[in-house]
Amino acid sequence: MALIEWDDSLSVKVSIFDNQHRRLVDLINSLNEAMRDGKGRDVIGSIIKELSNYAVMHFGTEESYFKKYHYADAQQHIAEHRAFVEEVERFRKEFDAGSIGLSIKVMSFLSNWLKNHIMGTDKKYTPFFNQHGVT
Ligand SMILES: [Fe+2]
Repeated sequence: MALIEWDDSLSVKVSIFDNQHRRLVDLINSLNEAMRDGKGRDVIGSIIKELSNYAVMHFGTEESYFKKYHYADAQQHIAEHRAFVEEVERFRKEFDAGSIGLSIKVMSFLSNWLKNHIMGTDKKYTPFFNQHGVT
C-alpha cells in the first residue's frame, strides 16, 4: 500500500500541474517503499537525481504560467521553488560525501513540501488560474 494515495485534497484544479504533482507523489511512495524494505540507501542517490530533474521540469512549467498570466504572487512562490532546488542540491552534496540517514531527511523534507507548498502555496493560485480558464 502506497504511503500517499492521490486524492482531491492534493488537487490544485489545474490538470497540467496535478499531473506533475502526481510524479512527486510517486517518487515519495517509491522512496517510502524502498525504506520499508531496508533499501533506502540503495535508491536515495537516484531519488535525489530525479528530484532535481522534477524541479527543473515542474517549476519551469508553473513559472511559465505565472509569467504568461501575470500572476501577482509569483515572486514569493518562486522563492519557495528556489529554496527547494537549494535543499535538493544540499542533499546531493551530502550524498556525494557519503552521508548516512539521508533517506529519512529527504522523506521528511518531501512530506513537508507536500503539506506546505502543494497544499498551501500552490493551492492559492487555483482561483486565479481557473478564472483565466486554466483548469
Ligand atoms: Fe509551486
